[in-house]
Amino acid sequence: MRLNKLSLLNFKNIARQELAFCPGVNCLVGDNGTGKTNVVDAVHYLAMCKSSLPMTDTQSILHGTDFFMLEGRYTSDAGKSEQIVCSFSRKGGKVLKRNGKEYDRLADHVGLVPAVIVSPADSALISDAADERRRYLNACISQLDRPYLAAVMRYNAVLGERNRLLKTQPDETMLAIYDRQLVEHGAKIHAARQSFVEELQPVVADYYRTLSGDREAVEVHYKSELNERPFDEILQAARQKDLVNEFTTSGIHRDDLTLKIGGYPLRKYGSQGQQKSFLIALKLAQYAIVARACGEQPLLLLDDLFDKLDAGRVEQLIRLVADDAFGQIFITDCNPTRLKSILDKAGGEYALFRVEAGEVSPANDTASAKNAHPESADANSDAR
Ligand SMILES: Nc1ncnc2c1ncn2[C@@H]1O[C@H](COP(=O)(O)OP(=O)(O)O)[C@@H](O)[C@H]1O
Ligand SMILES: [Mg+2]
Repeated sequence: MRLNKLSLLNFKNIARQELAFCPGVNCLVGDNGTGKTNVVDAVHYLAMCKSSLPMTDTQSILHGTDFFMLEGRYTSDAGKSEQIVCSFSRKGGKVLKRNGKEYDRLADHVGLVPAVIVSPADSALISDAADERRRYLNACISQLDRPYLAAVMRYNAVLGERNRLLKTQPDETMLAIYDRQLVEHGAKIHAARQSFVEELQPVVADYYRTLSGDREAVEVHYKSELNERPFDEILQAARQKDLVNEFTTSGIHRDDLTLKIGGYPLRKYGSQGQQKSFLIALKLAQYAIVARACGEQPLLLLDDLFDKLDAGRVEQLIRLVADDAFGQIFITDCNPTRLKSILDKAGGEYALFRVEAGEVSPANDTASAKNAHPESADANSDAR
């Protein structure tokens, strides 16, 4: 998938902007706090119907205004044009349209524009609680498996009902009804997570080796009570405990991912550099799997890459992602000179944008003329 044009209106610190991107690498450079991440987040928002950051939709509205609107114009790998418009207002909530027609459910959109983001926020995957890793699994799998997202939403709804019921000294027939529903949706979720992680594991290990030259082997495992025995048995065995605790103590909602390096937990035993390389390997593996499953190259969003890697490693990574296996790329950095010199060396097509106080302007004069994209030059001069 390729994002040709992006329009932003009242999105965070960006009042109004129209941008045209090149099919290769698009770089957003500027000082801290200028709006680089916000642009990348807008691209993410249009793909996933939500921010990549722990921010509510209301918090994403430009201070002092009542709504935001994002529009993306895309070309799929098969050459089909797509227009996605997403607006959110304090009063009217969220509306998402594809080619002018409103979606019945937001979930129907997820997967149409696959995207993978690498950002400083990824470190939460290593350090935070298991729900962060479950959220990650859900976001990945729902891009390639639409019924999965529906199953997760139904499971969570039933879980909420069951937990409410547990607070009321329930009769066991009611509980049994909820259990059957949890088992039905839970089994689908478990199967999807298991096959996703199985596919992910060897690719993560490969990318980690390429990126780090590290001899330590890395592993990703899916941890679930359902790996051990059937869900109905688990619920049955936990019934008394659930009644005492007044919530559902076992199930899919307790799943986790185990991340290891050299056989030991990454969080405790991985150096900072190893942890960062692991996260990038994980995201690139995710990219490969989503690309394979969707038959569509995801957008690759690399936010603040130098936060993760030194210049040498970034160079290695850029060479890797400039390869045909990766499609359109968005990179942010606060140092234009170092990014530009790495890109010049890599030799592919790229476009440079300067971000200052919520204003984004093309800086193609600094990219080589043969690299400048004629269409993007036109569209951006219109926008100025
Ligand atoms: N809803 C909002 N309205 C106005 N400004 C916002 C809003 N949300 C975030 N910002 C501003 O956006 C800026 C951060 O932009 P960001 O894209 O994270 O910067 P960076 O260029 O460092 O990536 C901050 O100055 C922040 O105050
Ligand atoms: Mg940023």
